[in-house]
Amino acid sequence: MNEHAHPLSMSERADELEEAKMHEMERIITKSTIAHLMDGEVKMDTSPEMKAKHPGKFFLMGNDPRLPPMPERPTLVDYFRHRFASTAHLLQSATHVLKGGQPEKVVLACLLHDIAIVSFIRCDHGYWGAQMIEPYVDEEVAWAVKTHQALRFFPDESVGYGYPDLYKELFGPDYKPEPYIVEEYRRAKAHKWYMTSRLICVNDIYSFDPNAKVNLDDFVDIIGRNFKQPKEGLGLDNSPSAHMWRTILWPTRFL
Ligand SMILES: [Fe+2]
Ligand SMILES: [Fe+2]
Repeated sequence: MNEHAHPLSMSERADELEEAKMHEMERIITKSTIAHLMDGEVKMDTSPEMKAKHPGKFFLMGNDPRLPPMPERPTLVDYFRHRFASTAHLLQSATHVLKGGQPEKVVLACLLHDIAIVSFIRCDHGYWGAQMIEPYVDEEVAWAVKTHQALRFFPDESVGYGYPDLYKELFGPDYKPEPYIVEEYRRAKAHKWYMTSRLICVNDIYSFDPNAKVNLDDFVDIIGRNFKQPKEGLGLDNSPSAHMWRTILWPTRFL
């Protein structure tokens, strides 16, 4: 029922629907401040306000019933299947590099290079993604994922990599990387693992083909050999980045 005197805007209608859905839930589900910032609002869901809106209910402290259930001890493959919003780009890139005959760690780097975008956060995705995987992969893989953040903006004619046309389309012809990216590029260029990170860019599929046939099953063995799956479950272990995986596992946990 619409109690508003004025017609509802799109976002008001969305808020109302969200609110109605929330009332059906057994637990109070909150949004983190970053989610509000991403909506262009500096605000937070405070506990007294939320309690007042949902009398008699407790805050969610675990699985979000709106999301696909995850196994008790989730693996990287479970995150691929149930938490990564889109895997086609990663699988296409990894398939491309696999056909090129590169070592498995390069294939893994391509497979994981944008996991932060598909599961977590866009801004500085290379840095976030590298931290997520660092405890579980060869140091070189995490380093390459981190620095692809910068390298993809700079051409390297020696391997036939030019500035992606897609970026001109996406960011406009005048976009210039910020100074911290330029500095990262300079450091990476002089690094012994430069080419590993460059190979991520070379195999990054910038033209997304909706008809490409790719399958995660083709990479399960490579993951098994190159990603140290913690026995407690990814995110439920004690690694320096376990909390990041837990946040993806339970993104709406109150604390
Ligand atoms: Fe990327
Ligand atoms: Fe990519």
